[in-house]
Amino acid sequence: MTDKILRGRLLTFHAEPQGPEDSTAYSYIEDAGLLIERGLIRAAGTYAEIAARAPDLPVTDHRPHLMMAGFIDPHIHFPQVQVIASWGAQLLDWLNTYTFPEETRFADPAHAARMAALFLDQLTGNGTTTAAAYASVHRASAEALFAEAARRDMRIIAGKVMMDRNAPDGLRDTPQAGYDDSKALIRRWHGRGRALYAITPRFAITSTPEQLEMAGALVAEHPGCYLQTHLSETHDEIAYTARLYPDAPDYLGVYERYGLLSPRALMGHCLHLTPREIGVMQETGARPVFCPTSNLFLGSGLFDDAGLRGAGLVNAIATDVGGGTSYSMLQTLHEGYKVLQLQGQKLHPLRAFHWITRGNAVALGLEDRIGTLEAGSEADIVVLDARATPAMALRMERARTLSEELFILQIMGDDRAVAQTYVAGAPQKKPVESLP
Ligand code: GUN
Ligand code: ZN
Repeated sequence: MTDKILRGRLLTFHAEPQGPEDSTAYSYIEDAGLLIERGLIRAAGTYAEIAARAPDLPVTDHRPHLMMAGFIDPHIHFPQVQVIASWGAQLLDWLNTYTFPEETRFADPAHAARMAALFLDQLTGNGTTTAAAYASVHRASAEALFAEAARRDMRIIAGKVMMDRNAPDGLRDTPQAGYDDSKALIRRWHGRGRALYAITPRFAITSTPEQLEMAGALVAEHPGCYLQTHLSETHDEIAYTARLYPDAPDYLGVYERYGLLSPRALMGHCLHLTPREIGVMQETGARPVFCPTSNLFLGSGLFDDAGLRGAGLVNAIATDVGGGTSYSMLQTLHEGYKVLQLQGQKLHPLRAFHWITRGNAVALGLEDRIGTLEAGSEADIVVLDARATPAMALRMERARTLSEELFILQIMGDDRAVAQTYVAGAPQKKPVESLP
């Protein structure tokens, strides 16, 4: 039974903050209560109001920490838990040298099951309560991830990677097998509990035209599923794609031709788009996903957040572990801040925390279920401690405003700043003392 009241400071966003002082975009309550019933947020308000409404429920007191909607990571690779921090290569060499050999190990269901549990532990340890994850090419790897998420009642979006060329033995499917395995996984998992399926052609380089045709058929047959892939990450990748698809007008044109684009299409990276590609992203509603730690680590390039937003695109932000170097969405914001600085753009803390909660939920079309602490939302909650380390506590002595506290979390925070994470109302870290 997860019914309880959580007490603490509360921050939740209703809209994207339009500037660093935009207090109309959020609610902040100094002494708040969250009434949790059957995995949902039944009510949010002052602690006095909520306690009066449910006087018999146990109370978990998180004061003076800050309760927020759990973080959402819309691009991450589950089979790369032991690839993260692999040295010295850019994208294509990094895939061939480190990533593909490691992903072959996920053919083994026992290995996949062990890694799925450890992967989800990393997510919740870092305050992430929803992820859109790539499994490996093996159906069993997606099966293991969905099963482990279901065990935790955790919202997960995932898919088996489709890849039928330019990859080693043991890591290729065929157009038909990729279609059949994806279809079987959709039937079994999409919409079951909190699981949603993402049709996952890895990227144009590892799929034949025949396979992308099959991916397009899956998209057409399952419009409620997501589509996730990579787009325009490095110049070498773009040039190779152009050689493999000589008739396409550009990289995005490959995916466009096979009917993969819609607001449910999550396009990892989008670093070097042409004006035509930006126009097609805007027309189709496809979502660029900014992966700052990965883009810096692999030396791929700088994401033009302001340019793409200005063109009307809805940008998401994600870790991309194991090209990404941290599971922490706080560290992702930190690197994102620096990527924008290098381009004369600003990521102020209100927009930053909106982005990794409600903003990513909007990009996924899930803002009615996750990303806020509104009544009716799923009870996925992170509790943040801006004094988690001595250096943070020292800096906090001079913080006067909520925005300053948030910025300290954004720049200095990581898993140590996550005091607790709730998934569907259930604490994932050791629970703090509960009062009767
Ligand atoms: N492009 C194709 N596959 C991958 C991957 O696993 N990681 C990243 N960063 N880019 C990719
Ligand atoms: Zn990726």
